[in-house]
Amino acid sequence: MPARVVTTAAALADATEGRAGLRAVVMTMGALHDGHVELVRTARQHAGAEGSVIVTVFVNPTQFGAGEDYEVYPRSLESDVALADAAGADIVLAPDATEVYGAARGFRDDSVTLDPGYLGGILEGASRPGHFRGVLTVVAKLIGMTRPDVAVFGEKDYQQLVLVRRMTADLRMGVSVIGVPTVREPDGLALSSRNRFLSEPERVAAAAIPRALEAAEVAAVDGAEAAALAGRAVLAQVAGVDLDYLVVVDPELGEAPDRGLARALVAARVGSTRLIDNRAVVIGR
Ligand code: PAF
Repeated sequence: MPARVVTTAAALADATEGRAGLRAVVMTMGALHDGHVELVRTARQHAGAEGSVIVTVFVNPTQFGAGEDYEVYPRSLESDVALADAAGADIVLAPDATEVYGAARGFRDDSVTLDPGYLGGILEGASRPGHFRGVLTVVAKLIGMTRPDVAVFGEKDYQQLVLVRRMTADLRMGVSVIGVPTVREPDGLALSSRNRFLSEPERVAAAAIPRALEAAEVAAVDGAEAAALAGRAVLAQVAGVDLDYLVVVDPELGEAPDRGLARALVAARVGSTRLIDNRAVVIGR
């Protein structure tokens, strides 16, 4: 049976009534690519043949700052449904902002929202004030609407994944959060819906981002600071890549350890497109 498309929580409740087995959700802002396909396949594995896989498609206005790309963010529901269906989704929930927020522009003046805490104010949160308040609030709403046992998120948005894990644990939401490794182009560029904004020369320049993370991984043998410096040095040599940050932190976004597993995270602007990426690194050895 092809994936059913619903636009309201009430229609979703109808569509899922009586379905046995685990329920897995993949939350997206649409413009699906192979990275999302991997998330849906993972959700299917967790839900099993008996369970249900729900893909949400909603371009969330409250996680975009003023002057960011909300208006031009790609919207392609028809092809999103086809891709979600082929990857194993049972239901696509594509609500509008009024269904999610009760207001077309997002938060109302009297909205209750989620405070992401300290981790929501660093890195992406420092460069995009309010971003994680918007992300966590909508993720909590979509959990409320879809009532999943399992929620699958990509490691590509690593800080988001850490924060969603913290939120679901701290607020005892009873959802297992599964992280899925980033899917990459042959030259290493992480798949992202925003890659389609890159011109050809920008696309070439953007490939320096995964190279910088590789350089950080190699230099991590000499410590976290050496790793970060090596990564930044790669990007400094590439015209058209405007670095926001490249840091090495522990896997929970705290201070990097002297030895052991850490995470290198990078954000850079290529032309007018802001790209983020990350990879696991091992400090010392
Ligand atoms: O990762 C995304 O696409 C979004 O941040 C999410 C989780 C769907 C919330 O809008």
